[in-house]
Amino acid sequence: MADKKKIAILTSGGDAPGMNAAIRAVVRSALYFDMEVFGVRDGYLGLMQDEIEQLSAGDVGDIIHRGGTMLGTARLPEFATDPAVRQKCYENLRAHGIEGLVVCGGDGSYRGANLVQHEGGINVIGLPGTIDNDLAYTDYTIGFDTAVNTCVDSINKLRDTMASHGRVSVVDVMGRGCGDIAVHSGIAAGAEAILIPEIKKTDNQWLDYIVQKLRTSFARGKKYGIIVMAEGVYAAPKMHHFTADYIASWLNANSETVGRRVDARGCVIGHVQRGGSPTASDRILSARMGEKAVDLLRENQGGLCVGVVKNRIVAVEIDKALSMKRRVDKHLIELADILAR
Ligand code: F6P
Repeated sequence: MADKKKIAILTSGGDAPGMNAAIRAVVRSALYFDMEVFGVRDGYLGLMQDEIEQLSAGDVGDIIHRGGTMLGTARLPEFATDPAVRQKCYENLRAHGIEGLVVCGGDGSYRGANLVQHEGGINVIGLPGTIDNDLAYTDYTIGFDTAVNTCVDSINKLRDTMASHGRVSVVDVMGRGCGDIAVHSGIAAGAEAILIPEIKKTDNQWLDYIVQKLRTSFARGKKYGIIVMAEGVYAAPKMHHFTADYIASWLNANSETVGRRVDARGCVIGHVQRGGSPTASDRILSARMGEKAVDLLRENQGGLCVGVVKNRIVAVEIDKALSMKRRVDKHLIELADILAR
């Protein structure tokens, strides 16, 4: 009897709610097709340290609803820079007889996956596990929906206290190069202004924009304000000072520009938005994508990443996926603008 096909899964980079559901989907789909499946601890670090263990159906029980990743995750820059580190990883995979690897992570993790495929000669399938939704080849990444819901929940709570005091909240959400969390949570929470890194403005241009938005809103009788900004705005060169606290202080010091007294506060939602139980939408996405990853490895395919386009599960070459430039949904920005008037 031929040996069973052996595959492994790792999670890498920033964790994302739904990674556990993806691990479960990969493990259970692989077992269904009579493969052996291994879990790698802490991403590429665990590959290097040979922290690779076989997983059973029971090992992935009771995780579908949990945030984080049961396998742990890490960022290992040496994987990209040190060929010796990579060789050790490939040797460890081969020593276990592993022929296929599922990598769940963001663009950095995909670059590593490409090396395992092309240099290590082991079939790799990527699953888009990142809250940022910054991978252009897929409409949605695993964890994005949960992160947006967490932000909306936080902004709803901020709204209560901002409304009571007649204040303005400047809310910082994650997204270094991609403003999707800001745009989606800003629309869902009814923000006056949404600041994203894809729109290039100077600090003064952003301040003008915020002032105009607040003026419009106050003119129709609103007593408080919500400004949502993606962290990528101040991650840009020459913008490092432009944080939520800075904007809030500037508004307080320049109330006359808004036309009434402003009492603004900055709020960084931070890593809270990376945690929590995944939404049903993220769990279902993880299930569908995890199954697809196993299908591709069964067919001895590799160098691909799984995505969802117009609600259909697709597979795209990792090279191509990494070269695609994400476009901001201009209509959503216009919509946010129209609805905040
Ligand atoms: O890439 C996902 C992400 O959550 C980004 O939105 C954020 O900028 C970054 O990770 C934070 O990284 P760390 O957890 O290492 O501080």
